[in-house]
Amino acid sequence: MLVVDKLKQTLENPLLFNLVQFAISGKQNITRRLIRENLHLKPGEALLDVCCGTGEFANVALGPYLGIDINPKYITYATEKYGAGKGHPEREFVADDITGAEFERRGLTFPKAMMINSLHHLTVAENEAVLAAVARVTTERFVIVDMDPTPSNPLSKFLAEQDRGDYIRPLAEQVALAQKFFKVEQSYTYYAGLCGQTILVCSV
Ligand SMILES: C[S@@+](CC[C@H](N)C(=O)[O-])C[C@H]1O[C@@H](n2cnc3c(N)ncnc32)[C@H](O)[C@@H]1O
Repeated sequence: MLVVDKLKQTLENPLLFNLVQFAISGKQNITRRLIRENLHLKPGEALLDVCCGTGEFANVALGPYLGIDINPKYITYATEKYGAGKGHPEREFVADDITGAEFERRGLTFPKAMMINSLHHLTVAENEAVLAAVARVTTERFVIVDMDPTPSNPLSKFLAEQDRGDYIRPLAEQVALAQKFFKVEQSYTYYAGLCGQTILVCSV
């Protein structure tokens, strides 16, 4: 196994995944602020976090929060670190496939939703299924944050090239994907620490 493949496998461990994210992107407070502002998030409003991973962005919420991720290891970690385990019963984490019948059967709706750093891990077909599911349950606004494959900072570009995601797309392709399901009001790039990021601000 190549060293790079071994490293990527190691990142399946939630703690190591977060350490590497922190080393590259810092605390990501700029991302949290941009998401809140662009969602027009109000106190008490429910928020859906699609592909929530280890729950690092749960504290964007100003009210009830549901994080959903298909990886049960990440969900156990998130519940202990950011949910009920840390005195936050208003933050629920579920291990489920957002595109599956079980989630649809729950019949939930959310005024606001977010999907962070996940688009580039999924194929076009997988993204379409995830975005269609989000569009079914979101009633007002949706923000997508992802990787910028062409940041001008050379170190940031190098880091983007090392990312575990196999499908890092230019911003225009990210917008084209989102436009199939949402009205994309705004899209632009920014830096979170050394990491070049994109943000797509969508309405339903
Ligand atoms: C790179 S992680 C992003 C985690 C988190 N949003 C963050 O920024 O820290 C992408 C996540 O998408 C999840 N995922 C992929 N397809 C999914 C699906 N259909 N339903 C729910 N989660 C999914 C994966 O398990 C993985 O944890």
